[in-house]
Amino acid sequence: MSELTFRALRALADGRFHSGEEMARSLGRSRATLSEALRIAPELGIDLFSVRGKGYRLAEPIEFLDAAAIASRLALGHSRIRLQVVDQVESTSTRLLELAAAGAPSGTCLAAEWQSAGRGRRGRSWVATVGGSLVFSLLWRFERGAGHLGGLSLAAGAAVARALSECGVERTQVKWPNDVVVDLRKLAGVLVETSGEIQGPTVAVVGVGVNYRLADRAKDLIDQPVADVVHCAPSAPSRSALLAAILLHLGRALEEFDRRGFAAIRDDWRAMHAYQGRDVRVVPPREAPFEAKVVDVAPDGALVVATPDGRTLALSSAEISLRGVVAKRRQDDQSASE
Ligand code: BTN
Repeated sequence: MSELTFRALRALADGRFHSGEEMARSLGRSRATLSEALRIAPELGIDLFSVRGKGYRLAEPIEFLDAAAIASRLALGHSRIRLQVVDQVESTSTRLLELAAAGAPSGTCLAAEWQSAGRGRRGRSWVATVGGSLVFSLLWRFERGAGHLGGLSLAAGAAVARALSECGVERTQVKWPNDVVVDLRKLAGVLVETSGEIQGPTVAVVGVGVNYRLADRAKDLIDQPVADVVHCAPSAPSRSALLAAILLHLGRALEEFDRRGFAAIRDDWRAMHAYQGRDVRVVPPREAPFEAKVVDVAPDGALVVATPDGRTLALSSAEISLRGVVAKRRQDDQSASE
């Protein structure tokens, strides 16, 4: 995607009509080049109108991230996080893993307006749109060894949930291991990737994606029920204010995790868990799915479930979903195909 696309989108960000001729002139390009640069808008999740005699207009205004405003909120909160905002990158986590290997300091954060290959858990892709999402990754270095990072992704998910709740998002909960949900619909996801020695030190790249204002077209690309910030907060925070709040919470949570591990927030986490005590369907990575009841979360972040035949299992990796909801969705699928 060209740099011109982003310059043109910034010129259109207010959601009003802008004459193509004037835009082309102020961007120093021909009208044909401008039109070519904007042709990609739908791929970025943007609805753009082009009306003869009036020019271009975005269906919704776009609030681009304000790096300086976020940095000053971080400074006010005495955060050691150093943020860089870029227009586009393949994946903020992939890029940050490269920067980590090259020695970037703890607290380095990369946010992007657009990821061309955003990654989710379990090899999935992460759907995000320009102006409709927050996507960023935070690099953190720990003295703890890799074996003591259990529960890190849960601690990160809880920090994101707390920040969203503080910013006015109602009924925010977590879903094991590290999703943030509202009414069981996914609002944000966390991908934690770690490397280092068994004895330490270790480095973690915490990648976070938040649905801010997702168009129906983007929701259709996601294979599970989703929620977004603007529909869950009576007065939605700006994207920049939200990113600053999440980073402040995340930074404090990672510092606390380095000192005390997951144990420090285990009780809070349990209280925030939307699936606590509920009957779920468990899909392990390599074994057959089974049904169980969520009993607890272990000190290392594993999910403790009880099976109908009386066994208690600690799961360190699996997908869970509500039993009734899965059954209903299957029923819907069936009736749709009948
Ligand atoms: C999940 O599957 O729930 C985790 C999603 C994590 C997505 C974020 S978006 C920013 C960062 N960069 C990526 O490529 N992935 C993470």
